[in-house]
Amino acid sequence: MTEINVKTRDKKGKISKYIYGQFAEHLGRCIYEGLYVGEDSEIENVNGMRRDVVDALKELEIPVLRWPGGCFADDYHWRDGIGPKEDRPYMVNTNWGKVVENNHFGTHEFFELVEQLGTEAYICGNVGSGTVREMRDWVEYMTFGGDSPLANERRKNGREEPWKLKFFGVGNENWGCGGAMSAKYYADEFRRYATFIRDYGDEPLYKIAGGPDSRDTHWMKVMMKKCAHQAQGISVHNYTYTHDYMNKGVSTDDDLGEYYSLLENAFSMEETIAMHEKIMDKYDPEKKKGLIVDEWGTWYDVLPGTNPGFLLQQNTIRDAVCAMVILHIFQKHNDRIFMANIAQMVNVLQSMVLTEGDKMVKTPTYYVFKMMKAHMDAERVDVKYDGGVCGGNGHALQKISADASVKDGRCLVTLCNTSAGDEEEITVTVDGDYKNISGTVMSADKINDFNDFDGAEKVAPKELEIKSENGKIMFTIPRLSVAAITLE
Ligand code: AHR
Repeated sequence: MTEINVKTRDKKGKISKYIYGQFAEHLGRCIYEGLYVGEDSEIENVNGMRRDVVDALKELEIPVLRWPGGCFADDYHWRDGIGPKEDRPYMVNTNWGKVVENNHFGTHEFFELVEQLGTEAYICGNVGSGTVREMRDWVEYMTFGGDSPLANERRKNGREEPWKLKFFGVGNENWGCGGAMSAKYYADEFRRYATFIRDYGDEPLYKIAGGPDSRDTHWMKVMMKKCAHQAQGISVHNYTYTHDYMNKGVSTDDDLGEYYSLLENAFSMEETIAMHEKIMDKYDPEKKKGLIVDEWGTWYDVLPGTNPGFLLQQNTIRDAVCAMVILHIFQKHNDRIFMANIAQMVNVLQSMVLTEGDKMVKTPTYYVFKMMKAHMDAERVDVKYDGGVCGGNGHALQKISADASVKDGRCLVTLCNTSAGDEEEITVTVDGDYKNISGTVMSADKINDFNDFDGAEKVAPKELEIKSENGKIMFTIPRLSVAAITLE
C-alpha cells in the first residue's frame, strides 16, 4: 500500500505549460501523410491538414510546436518552401531515408497548422548549411509588420499580417547532424547568428541555443559561459532506449527484463537533468535561463519492413508509463525546465497518433498527455510518498511515480505504477476542501498492448473506482498503469 500526501498549500512554483510541447519534423510520415495531405487529397482535410489528426491533437491543447527539425532543420532552406507549390524546388531529404521532399509544406503551411491546432510556434533555423542572411531574412519574412521587400513578399504569398513567432532555435544538434561542430566553434557561430535575429514583433524572440546531447556537460558549460547572454534558453536532447543508442530494443517487446531496463532508463532522465541544472545554477543562480528539452521520448528499432530512415515504431502501455515518469521529472524541475517537446507528434518515434491511409489511432502516449493536461501552467504542490521498489532481471526501480498541482480551485494528482507484476493500493490525502473527486486509469493486459487500426482501443483511459472516507481517497491501480485523480 502506498500513501500519497498532497499539501496544496505548500506551493512549489508554476509548471510551465510548454513542458507539454510537441515536435514535428520533415521525417518519414510525420508531416506528409501524417499531418499534411494537401487540399486535393481524398482524405478529409482543411487547407491540406488532416481533419482527423488535427481534431485529435486539438484535444491535447498543445502549447507549442517545434518545426521543421531536428536534423532536417540544418538542411532546410526556407525559400524553397514559399510561393506557388508548383514552382517550389524539390530536394532530397538526406537525413531521413533520402526520399524526395517537394517542399509543399513550408512556412505558410506550418503557420496554418499552428493556427488550426491553436498552438504557438517554435521554429528551428539552419546553422549547419545555411547562412546568417538566410536566417535573418526568414525571421523578417515571418514577423515584420511594416513595409519591407521581405514582408511584402510574404503578403504577395497570401499572408498580410506578420505571424506570431515566440520561440526560435539557432540550429539543432550542432555537435552532430547540425554540422559536427565543437562546443567552442558552435558558441561563436551562435553569437554571430543570434546577433542578426532581430525582434520585429511586440515581444522579443525567445532564442534557444543548441545544447548538449544527453550528458555532455562540457557542451553545456561552454553554452552557459559563452552564449547565455544572447539566449533565453539552452536545449538538451535525451532519448530513452531499452539499452542504449546502439541497442535500442523493439517497440513491441513483451520481455520483462527489457521492460524494466527501459523504465530504469526513463527514470535516469532525473540524473541527466540534475547534471545540467548544476552547471546552469553555477552560471545563472537566479534561474533566468530555461532548460529546453526539445527532443525526448522512447526510441526503438524501426518496425520490421519499414524504411529505416522513417523511425516508425509502435506505442504500447510501457511508452505511456515512461511518458508519465519523465513528465513528472520535468515537473519536479519546474524552476529550470521551461519547455520540453516530445519526439514526435505523428508517425515518428513516441508519437501521439499513428496513421495508415485514411485511418488514425490515438496512442497510449496520447492519453497520458490528455490525462496530464491540467498540470499545464498550474501551481505544483508538495507531494510525499514512498511506493517502494519493483523490478526483476537485475533491475530495481521506483514502483510509484506521482505529482500534483492546483489551478482554478482544482487539484490534479497523477501517478503511475511501474510494476509489471503487482497492482498497488493507494491512499491519497489532500489538504483542502474538495467536494467532487473523480479519476481515470489506463492499463493493459500485456506489456506490449497497443492500439491497432482495427478500431478496438485496447489501451485507453477508463473510469477509476474511488472510495473517499475521512479525508482519505482510496483506490487500487493495476500493474502497468497510469492514473489521474481530479479534486474539485
Ligand atoms: O527526432 C529524430 C532525430 O533525433 C532528430 O532529427 C535529431 O535532432 C535527433 O538526433
